Amino acid sequence: MSEKITLNNRTTTDGKGFPEKAQLILGEKSMELPVVVGTENEPAVDISKLRAQTGYITLDDGYSNTGSCKSAITFIDGEKGVLRYRGVPIEELAEKSTFIETAMLLIFGGLPTQPHLAEFRRILTDNEFLHEDLRHHFEGFPPNAPPMAILSAMINAMGCFQQKWLLPEEDNHFMEAAGRLMSKVRTIAAASYKKSIGQPWIYPRYDLPYVANFLHMMFSQPYRPYEPDPAVVKALDQILILHADHEQNCSTSTVRMVGSSQANLYASVAAGVCALWGPLHGGANVAVIEMLEQIHASGEKVENVIAKVKDKDSKTRLMGFGHRVYKNFDPRAKILKAACDKVLNKLGIHDPLLDIAKQLEETALRDEYFVSRKLYPNVDFYSGIILRAIGIPANMFTVIFSIGRIPGWIANWREVHADPEARIYRPRQVYVGPTQRPYVPMEQRNR
Ligand code: SDX
Repeated sequence: MSEKITLNNRTTTDGKGFPEKAQLILGEKSMELPVVVGTENEPAVDISKLRAQTGYITLDDGYSNTGSCKSAITFIDGEKGVLRYRGVPIEELAEKSTFIETAMLLIFGGLPTQPHLAEFRRILTDNEFLHEDLRHHFEGFPPNAPPMAILSAMINAMGCFQQKWLLPEEDNHFMEAAGRLMSKVRTIAAASYKKSIGQPWIYPRYDLPYVANFLHMMFSQPYRPYEPDPAVVKALDQILILHADHEQNCSTSTVRMVGSSQANLYASVAAGVCALWGPLHGGANVAVIEMLEQIHASGEKVENVIAKVKDKDSKTRLMGFGHRVYKNFDPRAKILKAACDKVLNKLGIHDPLLDIAKQLEETALRDEYFVSRKLYPNVDFYSGIILRAIGIPANMFTVIFSIGRIPGWIANWREVHADPEARIYRPRQVYVGPTQRPYVPMEQRNR
């Protein structure tokens, strides 16, 4: 087993160069608030005693300035475009690692030894099937059911057949639960695709590794096996690595929020799927392709599109651009842009949408509106081009994002669940509704 990482032994650094305390003055009152500094020298003011000592809370719409936790899983420096999983740079993982090895790095805290990797692969292979009774759940969905709705529902339904693994406590129990969830989510995703195109489920193949097996279940047919091109497997494996975790994004925070009530792993991950579905988050990869297809079909000039985006009245966003944390390039977008050229060339595909995407990026990055707001391409801007080239339909893009993000969600759930000092997430609010007023009987209410 790789080195045991627990949150509690991750003390903060001594905060060289930062004050030990912050001074807060509120009218006649004042108090000192401790300063906490992370291992990457990020300072924070600890306000956990603020309300008790002053009666005040803080207000931070969208939590742009609020740390919800201390975490040892993923580090992002948004100003420098840095992303590291358990300290390992994303560029190195994308080039040298595999999705399963990266998943283990995130979940267990370190790169796996060969025996550890073999053990996890065995769990993935032994659990790639679904309980036959789950078929009935699929049969209940309409043919046009959104795959993200199916994925979230089936993760919870699957949990009913995996009750022993819902709340893994010991390490080996947790490893089995993590492997089972990762393996079966892939099978559910492929089955939801087959359902949407009216084709029968394809059983997994025990002799195929994780990504190749997923592609087999997606594209094989009972009478015609699909042999995945190694370049396609590598491209999808890299996409999953790039989506594997991203610190406290909306869906991961959701998993932590749900897990903080001591809800089980499957319920917490199913909630994460729902949060990821939104077009401002994981659903953006679908919105990007729809935007590019619309530009291509209409023949609209890129300059006109950019002008529309800049016109607030148009309420148009350049999907796949901007990020709450990255105020520099999203390193994942850089890797994906290069991968687009490589994969499409290898497959002999020329996709006009890629040309449009590159023109949009070039035009936007020369425009003061984007430059002044530090809006750069994010992970969703190019990922859909590669998924299209592989033959994956747009309504499955966010499902692919979910498969990639499962390890990050599992790691974050475990970080909350295994922390004896963890508390249930329960933010406060500033109430702005009606002040006290009496109940009015129906006959006295205005018609
Ligand atoms: C993901 O958090 C994560 O880590 C998420 C993620 C992950 O791996 O988990 O990285 C994955 O979700 C990537 C983001 C995918 N979403 C999109 O591509 C949708 C388009 N992007 C935006 O909607 C927006 O940039 C967000 C949602 C990503 C971030 O929103 P913020 O931080 O709340 O920024 P904001 O809305 O306050 O915008 C600040 C300014 C505003 O203009 P002003 O009011 O200052 O004039 O920038 C503008 C915005 O109008 N702006 C955009 C824009 N994004 C921000 N203008 C045009 N197009 C855009 N895409």
